[in-house]
Amino acid sequence: MNYQQILEKTFQEIIPYRKLGKQADYIPELAKVNPNQFGMCLRTLNGESFQVGEANVRFSIQSISKVFSLTMGLALMNDDLWSRMGKEPSGTAFNSVIQLEMEKGKPRNPFINSGAIVMADILLSHLRNPKTDFITFVRAIGGNESIDYNEALALSERKKSYMNAAIINLIKFYGNIVNRIEDVLHFYFLMCSVEMSCQELATAFLAFANHKAAFNYGNVKLTASQVKRINAIMQTCGFYDEAGEFAYLVGLPGKSGVGGGIVAINPMSYSVAVWSPRLNEKGNSVMGMKALELLTTKTKESIF
Ligand code: DON
Repeated sequence: MNYQQILEKTFQEIIPYRKLGKQADYIPELAKVNPNQFGMCLRTLNGESFQVGEANVRFSIQSISKVFSLTMGLALMNDDLWSRMGKEPSGTAFNSVIQLEMEKGKPRNPFINSGAIVMADILLSHLRNPKTDFITFVRAIGGNESIDYNEALALSERKKSYMNAAIINLIKFYGNIVNRIEDVLHFYFLMCSVEMSCQELATAFLAFANHKAAFNYGNVKLTASQVKRINAIMQTCGFYDEAGEFAYLVGLPGKSGVGGGIVAINPMSYSVAVWSPRLNEKGNSVMGMKALELLTTKTKESIF
């Protein structure tokens, strides 16, 4: 498969979409990012790497961090995790509170804000140095020691965090948050603020694509069957109320973030990361979704 040629053709064919959508501005620092950027990187299990555009520029991974926090949570608690949250698609927006009240503070899954906030609470309870342990793991899996939090961005999100504050207060009322609200929100925003490039994200997600191999990064160990489960949750819950659309158009497990990044994997074959800041109304990158749809159409490779 000539992935480089396919990426270059894809890069050309998404040009008509470059002004569609709007970058996230409810996090003030994200509104400052130049929206006219696009990067894509594909890495195969054979060790090859292909890229186009701004694939080495770091951006805010936002909700993609929810895959890393689930990984740490599963390594710590295994199936006990599911007493604190579910693993079903929500069919609602990433920051929705509707289900949360009906379901008495038990989030639907770890990839919506409510679930990731409970996960932050779990990590705070179990890890000796949560902030250091989380970034150590992300650096190990992303293959670069200079990957870091953007603390200014995390603080800027905190200042405007009305929805997440509502979510955590509701969960706390139902007794599903153990630590102090301030501490949990701060750690959650820090995890979202991590900055990585498409190249680093594609490197990190090769570990999930390679689900039959031993998973051991920065002291986070998973069994093959735990990695399989993370991939299943990416498939069903990775795109909020657009998970069905992503499966229909692209056909790969993946995860998006409001920074404009999307990562997807083709199990036992490759991982691919795309980034472009303009989002559709569901909070997923317009050019990113289109590029992945073109990739799986041109290669005729998807999980279906
Ligand atoms: O909590 C928030 O709203 C953001 N820090 C993350 C949301 C996000 O990335 C959802 N993605 N599409």
